[in-house]
Amino acid sequence: MYLQRRNRIIRQSASIRSLVAETILTPNDFIAPLFIDEGKNNSTEIASMPNYYRRSLDLTVKEVKELWAMGIKSVLLFVKAKDEVKDNTGKESWNKSGLMQRSIKEIKEAVPEMVVMTDVALDPYSSYGHDGIVLNGQIVNDQTVEALVKMSLSHAEAGADFVAPSDMMDGRIGAIRQALEENNFINTGIMSYSAKYASCFYGPFRDALDSAPGFGDKKTYQMNYANRIEAIKETIMDVEEGADIVMVKPALAYLDIIREVKNAVDVPVSAYNISGEYSMIKAAAARGWINEEQAIIESLTSIKRAGADLIATYFAKDAVNLLH
Ligand code: PBG
Repeated sequence: MYLQRRNRIIRQSASIRSLVAETILTPNDFIAPLFIDEGKNNSTEIASMPNYYRRSLDLTVKEVKELWAMGIKSVLLFVKAKDEVKDNTGKESWNKSGLMQRSIKEIKEAVPEMVVMTDVALDPYSSYGHDGIVLNGQIVNDQTVEALVKMSLSHAEAGADFVAPSDMMDGRIGAIRQALEENNFINTGIMSYSAKYASCFYGPFRDALDSAPGFGDKKTYQMNYANRIEAIKETIMDVEEGADIVMVKPALAYLDIIREVKNAVDVPVSAYNISGEYSMIKAAAARGWINEEQAIIESLTSIKRAGADLIATYFAKDAVNLLH
């Protein structure tokens, strides 16, 4: 057989394959999400996320030091608010001595170069488990944006490098940017969850923070997964309103959206490899149905190949260990 071109030549050895690899993961790609709890010296494994923990702040600080030593440059903070501080205004979310604000300060003091990003949404603080204020059974947009602005300012004041609004209210990026400017937080960035879909794959996360919606679902603010053009519109608007980094979430069922967003905007694109994506790999691996290590690297590589410059993932630590 005479062949002018033999495509297998560049696949014939591990060395050649590594020379021509188009996508290479590095520790700089990852954002490690952290779940923080009140108390001291406690760590609770999340029931639906094997080997992932919610920790008190002292243990979280230890973890952040470890992540930094491994080469991970960013953490994304989530706190579990106590039931007694939850209400329908979300006011605990801008409490100067709230768990989030204390966490930001202590983490920045312990590891100043770690890029600290913070979740901005009302759900952990909401007695209804919704990302916004509820009036007559509706999630009201504009009052919620006012709360998100106060929350963002309190995170900036505590020392957050990036606030990360994950709520999908209209106009919040512009409002937060304006408030940061007016209050002279000119170095605080915004990583916007721009194309965030209403997804069943968030289930395990809501276990981690006890933040499942008490009534209804999140479909009046998070996007319909049937839609693609809407994701581009949302993302372009967030860039125009001042987002420094945009995000697509979830990641694996939305690789097409990551690529389209990457082609449409000129800011860094992140993707959130969410809780359900973590738990599915863990569950299948525990049954011996897939190879966990290979599944981790293959799925993270696919997210980067799709166009993600940054990946928030519960596998950050595992992936860095595997890359060595
Ligand atoms: C809350 C928030 C959610 C996640 C990040 N921020 C849950 C939700 O929107 O219900 C999900 C993360 C994950 O599943 O890993 N605004």
